[in-house]
Amino acid sequence: DDTVVLSDLAKRMGVKGNELIKRLMEMGMMVTLNQSIDYETAELLASEYQFEVEKAAFEEETIFQSEEDAPEQLRPRPPVVTIMGHVDHGKTSLLDVIRHSKITEKEAGGITQHIGAYRVPYENGDIIFLDTPGHEAFTAMRARGAKVTDLVILVVAADDGVMPQTIEAIDHSKAAGVPIIVAINKIDKPGADLDKIKRELAEKDLVPEEWGGDTICVPVSAKQETGLDELLEMVLLQSEVLELKANPSKLARGFIVESKLETGRGPVATVLISEGTLHTGEPVVSGIYYGKIRAMFDDMGKAVKEAGPSYPVEIIGLSGVPMAGDELMAVADEKDAKQVSEHRMEKQRSKDLSKTTRMSLESLYEKM
Ligand code: GTP
Ligand code: MG
Repeated sequence: DDTVVLSDLAKRMGVKGNELIKRLMEMGMMVTLNQSIDYETAELLASEYQFEVEKAAFEEETIFQSEEDAPEQLRPRPPVVTIMGHVDHGKTSLLDVIRHSKITEKEAGGITQHIGAYRVPYENGDIIFLDTPGHEAFTAMRARGAKVTDLVILVVAADDGVMPQTIEAIDHSKAAGVPIIVAINKIDKPGADLDKIKRELAEKDLVPEEWGGDTICVPVSAKQETGLDELLEMVLLQSEVLELKANPSKLARGFIVESKLETGRGPVATVLISEGTLHTGEPVVSGIYYGKIRAMFDDMGKAVKEAGPSYPVEIIGLSGVPMAGDELMAVADEKDAKQVSEHRMEKQRSKDLSKTTRMSLESLYEKM
């Protein structure tokens, strides 16, 4: 796993790069200046010049100390609820009536194409909702949604039933060990058949409570705005059972749920905070990038100065666009953030390079 870039080794020893390349060739290795060689090879080369190679393994762990939280540091946090289900079954519509918003109207072709994260004040606290696309092309997003969530609301249209992406959502939720609450939507429609839907759910091991199973099914209509209170009550009940807690008073960690490059603003990422509190001005690392939080915005686009456990925030200030699913970590010192980022980039670069070398060798063999 330990490697060194050949040009670095040459520089450190004050030897011409070409000399090392030639020496490696004599040893039967074709390596260019920008490529990495393994530790043993580096040691061998260095010894010929009376140098010793010392492993200065960079340990991320020294920067990200993960001390266990003491019980008294833990505070209740809002539940993170992901809405999943087959395309067009009414996920976004349901969220719209819960939030009194009109996201559905703004979506191109009425299809959700990203994970949206929203805060909904309800009774004594907040509930955080993640909206996911039901289109078959978005498997990865459904998997990601299930991973960062405490509860899943599985939306099934009463006039359509359990469909391929319903099943996929069930699988993702089960794989992530997340409890499912079923919202049987569109019960206002003429073709709605509750019993048929429950039968199909039971076939997928989601046996409704009223049939002796333990799956809560709430009939709702996003259009007529019925059943919503029951649904939210069930969400609260289920989250109480989970006793969700986190330590808000330490450096934040979270997950990128979506990210993009915006003209004028640069890299923009929506982060779901899992623990600690993120503040503006703090240095962070995410994936291979780092930066200082220049500004943060809540789900309504309002600028905020901090975000605690479970809350989604949009952040700007990163050096690049991290990948959705990447972890984001706040660090005490910007130098540390930069070091981690550079180290990760280096690692990725040598991985990419070894991939291309292997590939070009393979194509060489094919020609022989
Ligand atoms: P994707 O994000 O593309 O997966 O779809 P979605 O699950 O978010 O569905 P969306 O909320 O966009 O709704 C799809 C269509 O169903 C829209 O035309 C809604 O108006 C309609 N719809 C949603 N809920 C109801 C409902 O309760 N009753 C009726 N009659 N129509 C509904
Ligand atoms: Mg949608």
